[in-house]
Amino acid sequence: MRTTVKSPHLPFGDQRTAPWYGKDIISIKQFSRSDLEYIFAVAHEMRVMVERVGTFDLLKGKILANLFYEPSTRTSSSFLAAMERLGGNVISISEVRYSSVAKGESLPDTVRTLECYADVIVIRHPELGSAAIAAQAARKPVINAGDGVGEHPTQALLDAFTIHEELGNLENLTVTMVGDLKYGRTVHSLSRLLSLYNAKLHYVSPEALRMPPEIIAELEAKGVSQTEHRTLDKALWETDVLYVTRVQRERFPSEDVYESVKGAYVINAEVMKGAKPRTIVMHPLPRVNEISVDFDDDPRAAYFRQMEYGLYVRMALLAMVLGKA
Ligand code: CP
Repeated sequence: MRTTVKSPHLPFGDQRTAPWYGKDIISIKQFSRSDLEYIFAVAHEMRVMVERVGTFDLLKGKILANLFYEPSTRTSSSFLAAMERLGGNVISISEVRYSSVAKGESLPDTVRTLECYADVIVIRHPELGSAAIAAQAARKPVINAGDGVGEHPTQALLDAFTIHEELGNLENLTVTMVGDLKYGRTVHSLSRLLSLYNAKLHYVSPEALRMPPEIIAELEAKGVSQTEHRTLDKALWETDVLYVTRVQRERFPSEDVYESVKGAYVINAEVMKGAKPRTIVMHPLPRVNEISVDFDDDPRAAYFRQMEYGLYVRMALLAMVLGKA
């Protein structure tokens, strides 16, 4: 991954002063607290603009290549909607079997092809490190929309924006992450982000789905309070944000192991009687059974609002890397 500016051609005035102009977004580790404050401010402006005028021409003439090697509803459609709300256009490749990937084209060659037609590339791929490989190959900015069990940085940014908008700040919160913490790339990125805000983290998972030891060690070195649990009751009472994840069947080496851990935790109205009145419940979605629909109408259920916040954050990120924020 290069953090230097790509695409030095500047046809519309000097965009080089925009702090994220031409940069890749590959890992949440790239972001400082001041970066996050900046993103929250731009995302908030995007929200105001969408509510006021719906669509506007900030990125008119710009093209996004949306390259998805794995299924997606929210990330792919929110990036598409973000680009269109900003007046730009999108090349969508969500069925790579109908592209030249099916003929054996490599990821670097596919990326080099798309950058001939697009100004920015969003990529989701099943392999850890694939987004960094794409970024290395590309002259245009690349945004990681999920690289296997690695990271999902734009999800972590929208998760943080959700907390910011719902609770007013991210400082000193107790955040409990539940479910598949091993394969769930969203919790890998979010835990790293929350380490910037003095968060107290609880990890609730079956033994087989624990948070990866290298992430625990990384955060421990930063002095983050982290506690692992097998049951939710030890952590729920003091939780400000309950972050629930799906057990990721598609990443299990065998169906037997999946069957042994699926359905380990189910959040429902009864369970949530043990939480604080202002605790918010988040989920990157899709859910399978881990949050019961009987909780959906509770004001603490923030997971549908979370998806909408994602639109504003992705509008902000596109504007930033294209030098318009
Ligand atoms: N949260 C998330 O990444 O959802 P999709 O898989 O639908 O993009």
